[in-house]
Amino acid sequence: MTEKIQGKLVTLRPATMQDRRPIFDWLTNSDLTSSMMGPPIYADGKIPSWEEFKEDYKEYFFDSTQPQLGRCFIIEVNGEPVGQINHDRIYPEDKSTELDIWLKSSMYTGKGYGSDALQTLCAFLNVGYSCNKFIIAPSKRNTRAIKAYKKAGFVESAEPIRSPDYFDTVVLVKTL
Ligand SMILES: CC(C)(COP(=O)(O)OP(=O)(O)OC[C@H]1O[C@@H](n2cnc3c(N)ncnc32)[C@H](O)[C@@H]1OP(=O)(O)O)[C@@H](O)C(=O)NCCC(=O)NCCS
Repeated sequence: MTEKIQGKLVTLRPATMQDRRPIFDWLTNSDLTSSMMGPPIYADGKIPSWEEFKEDYKEYFFDSTQPQLGRCFIIEVNGEPVGQINHDRIYPEDKSTELDIWLKSSMYTGKGYGSDALQTLCAFLNVGYSCNKFIIAPSKRNTRAIKAYKKAGFVESAEPIRSPDYFDTVVLVKTL
């Protein structure tokens, strides 16, 4: 089991099975949900059901058994959970992986936690798994997310991604 990973502002703790439901609730039923999925802004980004979420975020995201396939981390500040960040499969061909992040409430946005969590996870995956290409793919409408990702060293890229979530998906890439 990986120890906690220390960033500048946040600490990342590998998620456990107990975190699966709260992470789902933060995604689908928080005051931030409407800023990333569901109508009226994101009619194209369907809010998943619990069953659909479990299909996307299989057990290995929460038990650290297959880090090469993906893993969720709880973002903590002073020991308190403020959100989650995850990486998907690490592709051996080009040492790349896709990331996703959401905080648990608007109380915690705009404080630099998101960009610090991204920088911290990228550095960890670079050192531990030789991963050197990180991809994140928000909607163009999500200006706050794009700003946070650029602060964390991501740049817009024209390359296609495997399964875009939005009609106006913007692909951002960070290389280490
Ligand atoms: C996207 C998210 C993870 C970013 O984390 P964060 O901790 O809020 O990000 P940061 O504080 O590092 O940076 C956010 C930047 O956007 C700015 N910002 C805040 N609200 C904004 C808004 N409504 N519109 C545009 N920019 C905004 C902040 O001022 C900050 O920039 P600055 O540091 O130059 O002032 C977080 O906001 C979040 O969970 N949002 C809801 C879920 C989501 O959209 N997830 C992404 C799905 S792809």
